[in-house]
Amino acid sequence: MTAQPTDPPRDPEALFEAEADRAGYVRGMFGSIAGRYDLMNTLMTGGRHHAWRRLAAEALVAPGDRIVDVGCGTGDLSFACVNAGASEVIGLDVAVPMLPIARQKALDRPEATRTTGFGAGDATRLPLPDESVDGWCSAFVVRNIPDLDAAIAEAWRVLKPGGRLANLEITKMKPGPLRPFARFHFTRVVPVMGRLISGHGSAYKYLPVSVDHFDTPEEFTARLTRAGFNVTRARSLMLGTIAMHVAEKPPLN
Ligand SMILES: C[S@@+](CC[C@H](N)C(=O)[O-])C[C@H]1O[C@@H](n2cnc3c(N)ncnc32)[C@H](O)[C@@H]1O
Repeated sequence: MTAQPTDPPRDPEALFEAEADRAGYVRGMFGSIAGRYDLMNTLMTGGRHHAWRRLAAEALVAPGDRIVDVGCGTGDLSFACVNAGASEVIGLDVAVPMLPIARQKALDRPEATRTTGFGAGDATRLPLPDESVDGWCSAFVVRNIPDLDAAIAEAWRVLKPGGRLANLEITKMKPGPLRPFARFHFTRVVPVMGRLISGHGSAYKYLPVSVDHFDTPEEFTARLTRAGFNVTRARSLMLGTIAMHVAEKPPLN
């Protein structure tokens, strides 16, 4: 039996078994936490999350670029791309309740009102023509995508030759003295915070499980390389709990 989109899983591990409708769960879950998503981000990261998106945007964007922000959520990476000089940013997300929040936030940012557009779209079936964007970016999304290679193939398809990709994602910390503290934060503190603030405890129980199932930074580099990208930067942030990858689709000779 597959889970209904907003079913709280008794055991988030079950979402990673064959036949589980993880994509449906992810869509429903992010839709239901949309209203509290920004506040949770700020509390979970001590406000650092904006700095990571700024770094990714600055590594990705050249002035005048057309960018797609995949899994845009409430739009913060799109706005960072606008601040970095993009002339157009298309934000796409499967969780439709995120989109009005992103549009509302754009209204408070005069530059973003002109340059951003937010709509429904799935990373594995982007509603964009081939070779139509200069940059593809995504923050804290890819560990949620069951067919990640399909999403990377879509990034390749929509990027122009010479286009760039920037990705941020939470990763497992390498063994070391700080790992037990990071684990305690993600597995104990964040789920309780999530239940109290978003009213959706299962979402924040799913988070550490999804990180455990996701690639290490080295594995993600290898995945991008297999897809044809040249990885130009792989950087660890926040004591190794966040990975930033920047890659290039080779230009035509
Ligand atoms: C943790 S949030 C990140 C939102 C935003 N990128 C940010 O930096 O705050 C993950 C987002 O990815 C979206 N998402 C998950 N799977 C997706 C997919 N296959 N295609 C597009 N969006 C997806 C979710 O709906 C959710 O809004």
